[in-house]
Amino acid sequence: MAEHKERWGSRVGLVLAMAGNAVGLGNFLRFPAQAVQNGGGAFIIPYLVSFLLMGIPLLWIEWAIGRHGGKYGHHSAPGMMDVIGKGNWWKYIGVFGIFTNLTVAAYYTYLESWTLAYVWHSITGAFSGMTSIEVANFFLEYVDAADGSWFNFPSSALFWFGITLALNLWILSRGLSKGVEIASKIGMPLLIMFGIFLAIRTLTLDAGEQGAVNDALVGLNFLWEPQFDSLTNPSVWMAAAGQIFFTLSVGMGSIHCYAAYVQENDDIALNAASAGWMNEFVEVILGGSIVVPIATAYLGLDWVQDNVGLAMGFRTMPTLFQNWGPFLAGVAGVAWFGLLFFAGITSSLAMGQPVMAFMQDEYKLSRGQSARMFGLFMLILSLWTVFFYGYGAFGEFDDWSGTFALVVFALFEAIAFAWVFGMEKGWAEITRGADIEVPYVFKYVIKYVTPLFLLVVFVGALIAPAGGDWSGALSGLFAGEGWNFSAGSIVGKLWHVGYADKRWFVDGSPTPVFIVDATRSLLLLVFVVIALAVRHAWKRNQHTY
Ligand code: ALA
Repeated sequence: MAEHKERWGSRVGLVLAMAGNAVGLGNFLRFPAQAVQNGGGAFIIPYLVSFLLMGIPLLWIEWAIGRHGGKYGHHSAPGMMDVIGKGNWWKYIGVFGIFTNLTVAAYYTYLESWTLAYVWHSITGAFSGMTSIEVANFFLEYVDAADGSWFNFPSSALFWFGITLALNLWILSRGLSKGVEIASKIGMPLLIMFGIFLAIRTLTLDAGEQGAVNDALVGLNFLWEPQFDSLTNPSVWMAAAGQIFFTLSVGMGSIHCYAAYVQENDDIALNAASAGWMNEFVEVILGGSIVVPIATAYLGLDWVQDNVGLAMGFRTMPTLFQNWGPFLAGVAGVAWFGLLFFAGITSSLAMGQPVMAFMQDEYKLSRGQSARMFGLFMLILSLWTVFFYGYGAFGEFDDWSGTFALVVFALFEAIAFAWVFGMEKGWAEITRGADIEVPYVFKYVIKYVTPLFLLVVFVGALIAPAGGDWSGALSGLFAGEGWNFSAGSIVGKLWHVGYADKRWFVDGSPTPVFIVDATRSLLLLVFVVIALAVRHAWKRNQHTY
């Protein structure tokens, strides 16, 4: 069967693919929502500190683990962690690197398919003449979450999802240099071009012009005016750290995989930094200059603060574009949803590649066979999020796989890299072939600061108190009143905090709690099956280092 020996075609291709991996829907939909929900300028400082002390170090760690693993023929996390950790059980930590990619890809590709559908609707002018309520309802009907039933069958969304999945599988089956790399070389420049066009159009919008009630700069100021009092608010720090994870795609296993196709002595230090900074440019400059400023210009800051969320890009933006006249509204719609689509697909490809690589490396499947298997797994998991969207299946995937799993894997890999593999070897690995001088202070940051930072983030995610009020919760604890877990913390979720009725069935119909628990069981099952596949593979294949 096929020997799995692919390589990147060019350095530009590699950096664009890595940047494409990072730049995603998180940059344009999640970042503005997080920034607004956490006080605008209050968010930016914790965000940038998290980038420097956690994001950048993790990028170097993951590129180094990846290139090192690639030397031993491993292109997915179980094998790489086996090499780095030199112990039986570290490969099971690597299971996260398959699990997270597969399960995040499942809901992420569904989200990506909405953007493709909306490109089409923008081309055909479907939104022209619609009121804002009609545009918002269009979205709700599209995902079929509006009727409140426990089972959705949104035929149009399924159609677009089918096309999006097929496109992903086709690109993946063409291989790294002929598939992923070409997609990134086309998608990334187009995305940046569309982003610059929309940012300029938005930021030049003045009050009184084309229906705007505020200058777009009001929204921009809100995002950028630093508010130092937030520095003592742990909830803002947690949100900022969470955004850094998601946006950089660290803690997933996808960076490791792409880096495994780099030659042993090729630079990783500059490449990692370039892709990371490119992501930050796209996120804070372009991502920050579109949704929030345009919505503030038309609807006011209070409205934005009350309504911001991931879905605003679909529910509100098409209405706002209508103010620019039919032609420009169509162009802006294609640019906006096209940008989102390219951002999405270059990220979902990076989630597919590690899963494919595992099957190719460990089970000697060909590229085509791995793509078909990946497609089958995706279909099962994605359809679950489609059918049970209204009862929270999509959100469960996002919380467990897209949020918590990233932190757990990152914590373990940082410890494995700095303390088990060892920081001397680790530093040599990061700097070998480097085209920049990596600041020496990062040797200590990676060894001490990053693992500690991650530990704090993990504990925060585990036990965050209700309302994010840490000081109130601590005084309550010392006063003997116990600890009120937030509904979004790991413990709070396990205890179903926030659900008044915890029964699984009412009048013979499943409840949201049932769907939530069934979704968690499914995710756990996926993890266990991957762990068993790793165990089986290690029995079959003699790995010696
Ligand atoms: N890093 C990707 C994003 O931001 C997953 O969407």
